[in-house]
Formats: sequence, C-alpha cells, structure tokens
Amino acid sequence: MTNVEAVQPYQHRTVLLNEAVAALALQDDRRQGIYVDGTFGRGGHSRLILQKLGERGRLLAFDKDTYAIANASSIADARFEIVHDSFATLAEALSVRGIGQLDGVLLDLGISSPQVDDAARGFSFRADGPLDMRMDTTRGMSAAEWLATETEQKIEKVIRDYGEERFAFQIAKAIVARRAVEPISSTRQLAEIVANAVKTREKGKDPATRTFQAIRIFINQELEELEVVLAEAFRHLAPNGRLVVISFHSLEDRIVKQFMAGKAKAAQPDRRLPIRAVDLPQPEMKLLGRVMPSEEEVAENPRARSAVMRIAERLTPAGALQ
Ligand SMILES: C[S@@+](CC[C@H](N)C(=O)[O-])C[C@H]1O[C@@H](n2cnc3c(N)ncnc32)[C@H](O)[C@@H]1O
Repeated sequence: MTNVEAVQPYQHRTVLLNEAVAALALQDDRRQGIYVDGTFGRGGHSRLILQKLGERGRLLAFDKDTYAIANASSIADARFEIVHDSFATLAEALSVRGIGQLDGVLLDLGISSPQVDDAARGFSFRADGPLDMRMDTTRGMSAAEWLATETEQKIEKVIRDYGEERFAFQIAKAIVARRAVEPISSTRQLAEIVANAVKTREKGKDPATRTFQAIRIFINQELEELEVVLAEAFRHLAPNGRLVVISFHSLEDRIVKQFMAGKAKAAQPDRRLPIRAVDLPQPEMKLLGRVMPSEEEVAENPRARSAVMRIAERLTPAGALQ
C-alpha cells in the first residue's frame, strides 16, 4: 500500500477508459505526440495513455485535488508531469513549458469517487461531514463559508441555475432562516434543510441531489473553468488534434456540445453580399461523435450511467501545410 492509499483508501473506477484513450488517436513515434489529461483523478486515463504513448511522447496532467496530486507522484515516467492547478490554467502551463501545440486534450469532468466517498470532503448528502465541497482544499471558500455569508437571492439563483431546482426559492429561504439560528456547517444539516423545503419527491432521487450539485458547481467554478479550457484546448490543438470530453450532467454537456458544434459550423454566406462561399470562414473542427458507456459498464459501475463523451478533431486551417 502506498502512503496515498493509506491516507485515503477510496478507489475510482475510470469511466469509458478504453474508448476515451482510443478517441485521442495517440501518435506513434514518427511524431512526438503531446497530450493533456485535464482531470487526472486517480490516473486511470493517464496510465493507459502512458502505456500506449510513444517513447518520445509527453503527457501533462492537471488536478485541483491534493490527493490526486499525491497519487500522481507514484508515476515514475519521464514523459509524465502533473500540475496542481485548474485545467483553466492550461495556456499558462503550456507557455511556461515552451509547448506550442497539443495533439490531444482529454477532460473527464466533475468529481471522482474518492471525493464523493470520503465524507470529510463534504460532497455527499449520504454521509455526514463538514460542508466543504472544494476540489482544491488549499484555496477558496468552502460551501459552509459561502452559505454563511451569501445573500438569499444569490443562493436561490445558484440553486436554480446550477441545480435546475424548482424549489430554489424555498430552499434559499430555509437556509437563510436556519443560519440566523445556528451555523450550517455539516452536510447532514444542509440535506435536512433541503429535504424539508422540497415539497415533491423525484423518483429515485434524494431531495438534496440538485442543491448539492448546484453548490458544488458554484464553489468550484466548474462551468466557467470548462468554458476557459475548451477555448484554450482548441487554440493549442495541432491540425488533426483531438478534443475528448466526458460530461456527467446536462449543464456540462450543453457547453461542450455547443462549443464543438460552433467550431464545426461553416459560416453561412449572406446572399446580399458579393462574397463567394469559398472565401467565408470554414469549419475549424470536425465532429467525430458522441459515445455513451455500454450497458455492461453501467452495470459494473453505476456512476457511469450519466456519462456522455464527445469527440472532435481540429481541422487544418485552410491553405496551411500539414
Ligand atoms: C471524474 S474525475 C477524473 C478521473 C480520472 N479520469 C481517472 O481515471 O482516475 C475528475 C477529476 O478532475 C478534477 N477536476 C475537476 N475539475 C477540475 C479543474 N477545473 N481543474 C483541475 N482538475 C479538475 C477533480 O478533482 C477530479 O479529481
């Protein structure tokens, strides 16, 4: 057992492992392939990439979580490097390393099983723990600190926008009423407040699911950072470079889908202007499809059930040499 496992024994089962690595279409050694795994987690995807990567290849991985970083320290491979930061810092990380172009970027979004399973991280409404929810516990505000200080209106907006929760108004009101009596510092307290405020039950869903998802997304700035990394990944992709993104809920997937679709669309000619179609901006990416986990994978790993993987390839700029 490594020190990391001794401190945090929770495991992560990688979703769409073979499919995601195949989607990157790794370069063989005729060309040095440089790849990014933006969400190292416990390194399931990174380790398989390293197995298949040519000797001259390079893999730069990111994670915000200190346990993920500690886990990555067990990989002794000169082709691999881990960065303890958000994947939104991609451009800066590449620039300080003198890396101009990438051959592929993989993002397996959201939280890992160890983050959910360890009650001390405060992500789960199923077990009692401190209300933290930060992926990176070395910086930023915990969920408890945020709920103690935020306005009722902003709490309601976060729960409505990021949780798509119909009872956001009632939940925010109940949170503000409770915090006037006692600090809301545990996951159990928050789960109880939400359960009492949510009037109808969704089948197979804990009433706290949407609120916990919303607060987690807000605390970790998940959607904003996703927008940044998609733009930066695209900007750095070499011609034929692949962008592979696994999402776990519709808010993430919508951003990924719209980003890729926008890059894959050719500009439509305005018939009133004397511009030839060939002179209009051409598509910058090609969509290579959407992949969901097989029934077998979902049966073995229920957390895979909501996963959607989208793949797109950067096209050669018109007139550029490959
Ligand atoms: C679903 S897990 C990835 C699992 C990984 N593919 C594996 O096979 O072990 C997501 C991981 O990404 C990290 N993460 C999520 N958003 C991030 C961000 N904006 N920047 C860096 N890491 C992030 C989380 O801390 C978590 O460890």
